Amino acid sequence: MYRVVYLDSVDSTQEEAKRLYRNRELVNGTIIWAKEQSLGKGRHGRKWYSPKGKGIWFTYAFKTSLRGKELNLLNLAAALGVVDALEDLGLKAFLKWPNDVILSDKKVCGVLLEALFEGDNLAFCLLGIGLNLKDIDEVPGSTSLERELGGSLSEDFVFKKLVDSVVNSIGLVEKEKEVVLSRYRNLCLTLGKEVSFKRNGTLLKGKAIELSSDGGLIVDVNGRIEVLYAELVEDVR
Ligand code: BTN
Repeated sequence: MYRVVYLDSVDSTQEEAKRLYRNRELVNGTIIWAKEQSLGKGRHGRKWYSPKGKGIWFTYAFKTSLRGKELNLLNLAAALGVVDALEDLGLKAFLKWPNDVILSDKKVCGVLLEALFEGDNLAFCLLGIGLNLKDIDEVPGSTSLERELGGSLSEDFVFKKLVDSVVNSIGLVEKEKEVVLSRYRNLCLTLGKEVSFKRNGTLLKGKAIELSSDGGLIVDVNGRIEVLYAELVEDVR
């Protein structure tokens, strides 16, 4: 179950969720859907282009009993939910760890997971999803649903499909971790590839070999094993 808050324009749906939370108005299962964002946020502090009419930009705020590193599984499950929605539209998508959704080797959708803490207690997860409906020319290496399908789509139709699928997929994580991991593994383009990452300021290179049971990426760096996790941005009240 979810309820939708519609906004014409906002800085970022993630920030709007945090404002509702601080005002004690955030309800479990709320989706904040904005037609455009002036300060859309991507992972690693990057800007996320979110102009009006060009995509679906929303945040799903929910509670979970998962804790610690297992919260990573939510990233994977959200990406799988997007894959399912795209499959319903006739598109075969793949995943780049942790949660980039890829069509024809280009990114069509990104996922950003943030956690809100009340002291030491996890209060809410904020799952932000940005799906390009039309091409975003400012972002090289990206694609859009309309480019891949060669036709136009209604925002309402895609939003409903996407939200139903993502909410359903998130709901499965707590009981079906193994299913999430094995489905993800089959669609993951990162496994078997060379990856580079930073550890304590040093750039390291290695080969991605497996997923860990909590959704981390196991990397072989010249015979030494490292486990990478998607950064979880935390906000404490
Ligand atoms: C990524 O870097 O791949 C994650 C992109 C997440 C973008 C979405 S759009 C809706 C929500 N609000 C934001 O400001 N960001 C997320």
